[in-house]
Amino acid sequence: MSYELKSARYLAREVILRAVEPGDTVVDATMGNGHDTQMLCETVGPEGRVFAFDVQAQAVEETRKRLREQGLDSRAELILSGHEHMAEYVKGPVKAVMFNLGWLPGGDHEVTTRWETTRTAVESALDLLAPMGVLVICAYPGHAEGEREKQELTAFLGGLDNRRYNVLHQRFLNAGLGAPECFVIQKQNGGD
Ligand SMILES: C[S@@+](CC[C@H](N)C(=O)[O-])C[C@H]1O[C@@H](n2cnc3c(N)ncnc32)[C@H](O)[C@@H]1O
Repeated sequence: MSYELKSARYLAREVILRAVEPGDTVVDATMGNGHDTQMLCETVGPEGRVFAFDVQAQAVEETRKRLREQGLDSRAELILSGHEHMAEYVKGPVKAVMFNLGWLPGGDHEVTTRWETTRTAVESALDLLAPMGVLVICAYPGHAEGEREKQELTAFLGGLDNRRYNVLHQRFLNAGLGAPECFVIQKQNGGD
């Protein structure tokens, strides 16, 4: 079997599948159509818990339907609220937090994640992480707000204390402007 280098979304999923174990508590900060929420529910198993956020009722409904169809709805709490309020709903520690930034595929492009609220949510996520827990963020700099969000995110994450967090940034250097990028942050043991 030949090995193929794959994109941001693939790395995000790989990291989650390696870091998360049955029984863990995790967060999907951007529920969207529920693909990631479903994957997280499957990964944490029947004893685990998934908190998922979105500002759009359409996303919550779509995700609820998806989880019901798969018999996974009892594992998740679907929250119609911005991820910037994460700390009000989730009391740590959590093994993983996922962000898939941008807008709902097929939805209103005006309802996109924005750096100001993303920053608050990322700060909450970093606090909530258990030692060795992971924060995984896919960013889409192919539109103006996405580019601004990615630039700010890169600067913010690059400034994290390396005694507390390891920060990885993956992108294909020759893919052209706008290609998806992935950030993975792991809280170190003793990083609390
Ligand atoms: C790219 S989509 C997520 C896709 C999703 N992870 C999936 O697997 O289908 C980004 C989502 O972020 C949501 N969003 C925008 N601002 C938000 C905020 N402040 N808090 C939570 N979700 C937000 C959008 O409504 C949109 O559904």
